[in-house]
Amino acid sequence: MEVVFGESLSLESSKSVIVIAATAENGAKFVEDKLKELFGTTIPDDIKDFLKDLDYKKIESFSIVAKGSMKEIIIVGAGKKESITRAGVEKLGGYIFDNIKSKEADISVFNNIENNVKFKTAAAYLASGISLKSWTFEKYKTKKNPQKIKSIKCQTQYVKENEEEYKALKAINEGVFLVREMATEPSNFMTPDQMREEAKALKQLGVKVTVLDKKDMEKLGMNALLGVGNGSDKPSYLIAMEYKTDNAKEKIALVGKGLTFDSGGICLKPAHRMSEMKEDMTGAAVVIGTIKAIATQKLKANIVGVIGVVENMISGSAQKPGDVVVSMSKKTIEIDNTDAEGRLVLADALWYAKEKYEPKVIIDFATLTGAIEIALGHEFAGLFSNSDELCEKLIKSADFVGEKLWKFPLHPSYEDDIKSDIADIRNTERVRGAGSITAALFLKHFVDKNAKWAHIDIAAVASDPRNRALSQKGATGFGVRLMNDFIKKYYN
Ligand code: BES
Ligand code: MG
Ligand code: ZN
Repeated sequence: MEVVFGESLSLESSKSVIVIAATAENGAKFVEDKLKELFGTTIPDDIKDFLKDLDYKKIESFSIVAKGSMKEIIIVGAGKKESITRAGVEKLGGYIFDNIKSKEADISVFNNIENNVKFKTAAAYLASGISLKSWTFEKYKTKKNPQKIKSIKCQTQYVKENEEEYKALKAINEGVFLVREMATEPSNFMTPDQMREEAKALKQLGVKVTVLDKKDMEKLGMNALLGVGNGSDKPSYLIAMEYKTDNAKEKIALVGKGLTFDSGGICLKPAHRMSEMKEDMTGAAVVIGTIKAIATQKLKANIVGVIGVVENMISGSAQKPGDVVVSMSKKTIEIDNTDAEGRLVLADALWYAKEKYEPKVIIDFATLTGAIEIALGHEFAGLFSNSDELCEKLIKSADFVGEKLWKFPLHPSYEDDIKSDIADIRNTERVRGAGSITAALFLKHFVDKNAKWAHIDIAAVASDPRNRALSQKGATGFGVRLMNDFIKKYYN
């Protein structure tokens, strides 16, 4: 959908739907003034009556079909000004989309938010929210539901500021859409080879892409990653993506779990919900989507993305419970459960990132544990880190964009749970409980002690069985907007 910003909007099109987003403060007056503009001088009595009872303190929508002009007018409460944030305005855009999605129309959006808050770009945030919420995946439907909304015109007194902001938001949202698309694609399409192609597509944006195949990884001793792929007919890859501009700040590494399918291996998952495991590559997709967003905006930054791309399957050559592998770090790992495969792939991906790129800041994204869904549901992603300072920054960015992070203890007292009788470490906890923490502690063994590291467990936020403020049910693209803000604020 096309988005334009203008100081004044012409409302001639008979197919236009008018949206007026109004704050609690001055909202009634603003709506009245707008309607006066629309109807000429006087507002019809029935509409006047209708307006009297509207309350803009809550986010709520009210709909009027204006007789005569036959224009549909949707008035949306935007809340009290002191509680309005950019993330909130974006979510309001998602809410507006739900109220207009069935209308085949050009949408004209007016708001008085920009007069009541400290930022000038409420219009851009509304448009971004509408766009984020409008994303659907119809590739495999032979009968497609075309996008009904053709264009969005936003009225603002700050045209230039909104155009600029929207340009950035559009680049970010395209990163989000890429993650949703990759996660939603079934595993017979989104194979390791296809993931490699998605990464390679970043070359167009000036990103250097390096692909390590099985032979390369064998030479480096990446047996933890390779072991997971042993049962699959499909190849395994480690892919590095480097984006670096002149005068960039400190280097930052993003590492992602890219299981294109996780059957559980010999420790086979139950059939119920197994199909969701096509999304087990979402961490890697977040890395690709973030780099895409950053590179499209041409931000000054120095980022390296490292993803381990593997399929966890069963065959005569599949890894077995009780096996021991020697990781790239030389640490030996007992495979107690072949379904705890993400940490094995990440062990080598994290170590490779450390050895090859020596980053002082490293953040990994992974759909790592089912336990995180038990702990936090689909609201917060789990945050685990060796640096309080890094956590603080990440949480700030998360709050800013409206993607929530909750910090867990990465306490050494849980270490005993991942001790092995036969090897240095084992890939599951001995005692039931705290599965997300022990998984994070496992990863910590493969991270440079002198680097600031954060692990973000997105197993339950990557996808939601319900509609959310900015996404339909299914893949959310969680992480891209967060990382984009984090990099923009602290590493740009
Ligand atoms: N990919 C799963 C985690 C997962 C579960 C992601 C549900 C999304 C939704 C991961 O590989 C896994 O299987 N983890 C196991 C670990 C256990 C065997 C220690 C789990 O969480 O059950
Ligand atoms: Mg698994
Ligand atoms: Zn997995």
